[in-house]
Amino acid sequence: MTVPDGVLVDLQVLQRDPQYQEALAAFERDYPAFDVVSLEQLRAIEYSRLDAQGHVYLDYTGGGLYAESQLAEHQALLRTHVLGNPHSNNPTSLAATRLAEETRARVLEFFNADPAEYAVIFTQNASGALKLVGESYPFQPGGHYLLTFDNHNSVNGIREFARAKGATLTYAPVLPPELRIDATRLEEYLAQANPAMPNLFAYPAQSNFSGVQHDLEWIARAQARGWDVLLDAAAFVPTNRLDLRQWHPDFISLSFYKIFGYPTGVGALIARREALRKLRRPWFAGGTITIASVQGDGYYLRDDEGGFEDGTIDYVNLPAVQIGLRHIARVGVETIHTRVLCLTDWLLRHLLALHHSNGKPLIHLYGPADTVKRGGTITINFYDPDGRLFDYRQVEAEANQVNISLRTGCFCNPGAGEKAHGLTAEDLAECFRREERMTFEDFIRVMSGKVKDAVGAVRVSVGIATNFADVYRFVRFAETFLDRRA
Ligand SMILES: Cc1ncc(COP(=O)(O)O)c(C=O)c1O
Repeated sequence: MTVPDGVLVDLQVLQRDPQYQEALAAFERDYPAFDVVSLEQLRAIEYSRLDAQGHVYLDYTGGGLYAESQLAEHQALLRTHVLGNPHSNNPTSLAATRLAEETRARVLEFFNADPAEYAVIFTQNASGALKLVGESYPFQPGGHYLLTFDNHNSVNGIREFARAKGATLTYAPVLPPELRIDATRLEEYLAQANPAMPNLFAYPAQSNFSGVQHDLEWIARAQARGWDVLLDAAAFVPTNRLDLRQWHPDFISLSFYKIFGYPTGVGALIARREALRKLRRPWFAGGTITIASVQGDGYYLRDDEGGFEDGTIDYVNLPAVQIGLRHIARVGVETIHTRVLCLTDWLLRHLLALHHSNGKPLIHLYGPADTVKRGGTITINFYDPDGRLFDYRQVEAEANQVNISLRTGCFCNPGAGEKAHGLTAEDLAECFRREERMTFEDFIRVMSGKVKDAVGAVRVSVGIATNFADVYRFVRFAETFLDRRA
């Protein structure tokens, strides 16, 4: 299908297009909670660079976007403060410490966490938080590491610590087509823990592959059976409220750039103080100890958050985290959540309605087809009228030409992809028998010979600044694949 010239690349042309105007009016009518006017105001003030440069940004699960006011506020703060390394006790050092401690308190407030129950440990990103738990958790023979199939690789990687220390490793499956947890199997696995042993259960609050939001009730259910629970909240918290007085996971991992775009390089492990006491750090570093000695060959770790923060924290950027949290609070997590659900619903309905002239569907969706217990991450593949797959690399290349930023491949979430594409353990074991390292391209080539379906997919995700024009342009872009041969 041909889309009129300019509609995909020029906002002014798009806004004059009668078909767009009609679609926008229908969107406003069908989703009054979205509040188009307020979003456009926010976008014009804080995110105008998107339209100034003609970007359609649809990779919020990859990274959030920062507002201009965040930059201005942070710059102003840096200009008016002299900040020194917080490991000293001089005035500039104390100023940095005060800002860092304020930021810690604001993070706890943002998640409504009781400071007596939870501690905030600043890390480089969510992966840094996950590694802290992985390397320090007292895995041992008789203990267990249980995790769902749809975890991010940074959660999967913890299995190497668990394995090295002799713990049992179990993956709990997710079920296609929606890729939700197989509840019966998970109940079975949870019942297998020996409560006298250290057992860790890890799952994502929202899958970065399918957008599925797993039930947070699993936290208490697992804890009641003797598990510590690691909730990977990285993909969930940018558009959903996580209330830590309602939910009590032992460990929570997140990256701040996914919530508000700036700064990158700062994440957090939010941990129950009681759970932190179970962790055994494998080393010590500057900042983590009360004392250490060369000749005495000993050290004492600090017993607070500092015992987990290796070296100097990112003290110049940490105040920008408070600024980002304030920005999100001003816009409103609930408002962001509602808007994202409206856009996701519209996208799902319009993408799934696309059919070739012969009646065959253009889009295959991996994950829930409605907005019940799901977030704004949509993973799909494009098929031609004969049911042949369009290579995701081609989709990406064509999207790039019209300035649409989307994500393709496996999104660091191999397990969800394997379930979605119907790959078996046998199919995959072959890849890891080889001596030489396999590249991702080799992997795709080998796997594509094994399954009818795709390996790898296209992901679009919406967030704080997404407007109707963004999702409309993506659907019009998708239409350009109608009645074409792959
Ligand atoms: C669900 C989930 N967990 C963990 C991560 C890792 O985050 P980072 O790369 O910031 O460490 C991501 C990143 O995409 C994610 O989506």
